[in-house]
Amino acid sequence: MTDHLTVVDHPLVQHKLTQMRDKDTATPEFRRLLREISQLLAYEITREMELTTKTIQTPMQEMDAPVLKGKKLALVSILRAGNGLMDGVLELIPGARVGFVGLYRDEETLEPVQYYFKVPENMGDRLVIAVDPMLATGNSSAAAIDLLKEAGATNIRFMCLLAAPEGVAKMKEAHPDVPIVTASLDERLNEKGYIMPGLGDAGDRMFGTK
Ligand code: URA
Repeated sequence: MTDHLTVVDHPLVQHKLTQMRDKDTATPEFRRLLREISQLLAYEITREMELTTKTIQTPMQEMDAPVLKGKKLALVSILRAGNGLMDGVLELIPGARVGFVGLYRDEETLEPVQYYFKVPENMGDRLVIAVDPMLATGNSSAAAIDLLKEAGATNIRFMCLLAAPEGVAKMKEAHPDVPIVTASLDERLNEKGYIMPGLGDAGDRMFGTK
């Protein structure tokens, strides 16, 4: 993956995203759509995974058939909204190892502070896909990627549903080696840090909180 930003403009992704943006779409439908889109984004983000072959026996004959090479990938959810994106990817890649990064924003310094961090071992040998639906300011995403690198990860990709130009710029500055795959590059952030036109608070909409 050479581009820093890939917008998956597939018609199915765009159609489902429009349904998610609609304020009248209720939580169960929102979650289902997120799961479906996450699988289509996963298809794109994993397209360059390396293959090897193994010898199998079909009902007709023996063949050397392609299988994924190397250690199982690590899927890292940036809490809490990352979990909504992760579920669908795990359905597609059930053997993936799973990690979690929890960050909150210190109201005085406005800097992200870590409250939870647990990732699989051998991070340096794995493709690591970090997931967070909303790339807004990019501060917490960039901090999460810092932590993954400190844990040894060298081959990281970032999957989100929506990205703001400000977040993309922040990630490009902090982590130019981490390609981003998203369903849309939206227009801007508003004064409260929400993505516009966006879809509102992704965590609240997927978990039914307010
Ligand atoms: N997080 C959200 O859930 N929504 C936004 O618009 C920005 C950040």
